[in-house]
Amino acid sequence: MKITIRNNTRDDAGWIRDFLRPGGAEFIISRGRKLFPAELPGFHAIDHKGEKVGLATYEIVGDQCELVTIDAFVRHSGIGTELLAKVREVAQNAGCRRLWLITTNDNIEAIRFYQRRGMYFAMVHVNALEHSRTMKPSIPTVGFFNIPIRDEVEFEMILS
Ligand SMILES: CC(C)(COP(=O)(O)OP(=O)(O)OC[C@H]1O[C@@H](n2cnc3c(N)ncnc32)[C@H](O)[C@@H]1OP(=O)(O)O)[C@@H](O)C(=O)NCCC(=O)NCCS
Repeated sequence: MKITIRNNTRDDAGWIRDFLRPGGAEFIISRGRKLFPAELPGFHAIDHKGEKVGLATYEIVGDQCELVTIDAFVRHSGIGTELLAKVREVAQNAGCRRLWLITTNDNIEAIRFYQRRGMYFAMVHVNALEHSRTMKPSIPTVGFFNIPIRDEVEFEMILS
């Protein structure tokens, strides 16, 4: 699919919040921290009709860049790949040493996707979701393929 990648601006905050709300809140939990994607820098993808087809947000802290969210509204069309490449480029240009992210143990599609894009397992934070649910009780207990959502899986890519 031919897409255009645009920077998220303040004007995008509304639809980003609406998109995330079905998950139960405007924030996500990563390593015990609340992150508000609508307030973070990021990118969205637009198709040839001007429809939004993807979203990625990130946070740079020191020399590390966390990919906070990545969503392709149409799967297997190259949108996720382009968004990830864009975040990687920004991280590299900002002098980051490491690009990292958290996913959950049930997210087989994402675990496959990241490894195919050159990211590696950095750590598995066993049973981290128990703590996350104290901060966000709406996190479901069961995820993709009926797999209990239990662990945070940390992926990384060392940037040169
Ligand atoms: C993870 C996610 C972002 C991947 O996005 P995506 O846009 O489907 O990914 P891509 O299309 O770039 O790549 C997926 C596969 O489709 C293939 N593909 C890309 N363009 C294609 C095309 N035009 N025709 C057929 N296949 C294509 C890619 O080759 C890739 O396969 P590979 O990994 O074996 O090389 C997406 O699955 C998603 O939004 N998941 C839900 C949200 C989520 O869980 N996010 C991660 C949270 S941590």
